[in-house]
Amino acid sequence: MAESQRIAVLRERAPGETRVALTPETVKKFLVLGAQVAVESGAGERAAVADRDYVAAGAEVGGADAVLRDADIVLGIQGPDPALLAFTKPGAWIVAALDPFDPQGRARVDTYAAAGLEALAMEWMPRITRAQSMDILSSQSNLAGYKAVLLAANVYGRAFPMMMTAAGTISAARCFVMGVGVAGLQAIATARRLGAQVSATDVRSATKEQIQSLGAKPIFVENVAGIEGEGAGGYATEMSEEYQRAQAELVSGHIAKQDLVITTALIPGRAAPRLITDAQIASMKAGSVIYDLAVGQGGNVEGSVADQIVERHGVKIMGYANTPALLAADASALFARNLYNFLAAFWDKEAGRPVLDEEIGNAIRLTRGGQVVSERLAALSVAAPPPSVAVAIATSPKGGGF
Ligand code: NAI
Repeated sequence: MAESQRIAVLRERAPGETRVALTPETVKKFLVLGAQVAVESGAGERAAVADRDYVAAGAEVGGADAVLRDADIVLGIQGPDPALLAFTKPGAWIVAALDPFDPQGRARVDTYAAAGLEALAMEWMPRITRAQSMDILSSQSNLAGYKAVLLAANVYGRAFPMMMTAAGTISAARCFVMGVGVAGLQAIATARRLGAQVSATDVRSATKEQIQSLGAKPIFVENVAGIEGEGAGGYATEMSEEYQRAQAELVSGHIAKQDLVITTALIPGRAAPRLITDAQIASMKAGSVIYDLAVGQGGNVEGSVADQIVERHGVKIMGYANTPALLAADASALFARNLYNFLAAFWDKEAGRPVLDEEIGNAIRLTRGGQVVSERLAALSVAAPPPSVAVAIATSPKGGGF
């Protein structure tokens, strides 16, 4: 009988991080797989999970050192501080969002390698059908798109829906969503539910139908080719200068009529594309609100600052670097399920532990046997340093602050 795997989960230590990588639900599921589960005391506090809930589900709760002692697998939302990992088993797995494009994240990954740990970057999960339930980017972006609209609505000094009242009619807010991936689609759906008139744009042509199917109006560059279909793996690339010019012109015409703009555009491994300039902001109506969901990756909007509301030309520009952390309970529940779905899919009953296949292993495994083994990461070190302007999640969500 194989020795049972010890799965350990720490309290997240990054400022502003409220989520936890394990829930009582996933504790029970891991136990069914035959694993032991240990969680640091207080780990779920900010996500509305008490220590006693973990204990009731069958987990051991204790201090960080006790929890990590002889751990085979350490689960996290963000990569744990390598200094904490001295007591894990040799070759233990670190399963979390490891942010390897960010210089700090990269340095941490190098330390995991030197410590002989096997680091698995969950955000590099390939976008293939069988991995959908393991995709932390999707689960978290979906919630972020929803919350961005609510936060913008809260700051907006007018109502979203059209209202016909005895005192007169209020017209519906106009909301423009830029970047129609997972977050953008949820932002469209949320703004529609609140009663706004919604339009949206993307560089990938497949999104046009998706926008229409949600009852919003597609606003697309027509005279310069964008990305055909879904784009490789559902991802965009940096667009040509010609496209960028055409897009800027299109946006300039449209944005001046908008009350709310939600930007979500990302390009993997690069700084977020700049979609809105200060001059375009100046053309907007006073009282309009922009939520920049890409603010943690350099920002889509000129002048946006993580975790702050900046007022330019009477327009409020806002964006949390870690928007999913503002929905800690749901974000944790989905993240924890993503991690469970991943480990369970590869759980080898005979070996009593997970064994990755080549396709997914090669995509997400960054370090093993004392070395960086990811080709994607190695290519990154040879090339110039990543241009992404990483903004640390430096401020804790202020709740009523926004
Ligand atoms: P993302 O977070 O990388 O980017 C957000 C959006 O910004 C994308 O739609 C992208 O095309 C757009 N964008 C990039 N540059 C832009 C620019 N200059 N102007 C306007 N828009 C720009 O993308 P996300 O949300 O992670 O996923 C995109 C797609 O990938 C999804 O719609 C889905 O079809 C696919 N997907 C597939 C999965 C699977 O099969 N397992 C899982 C997750 C996503």
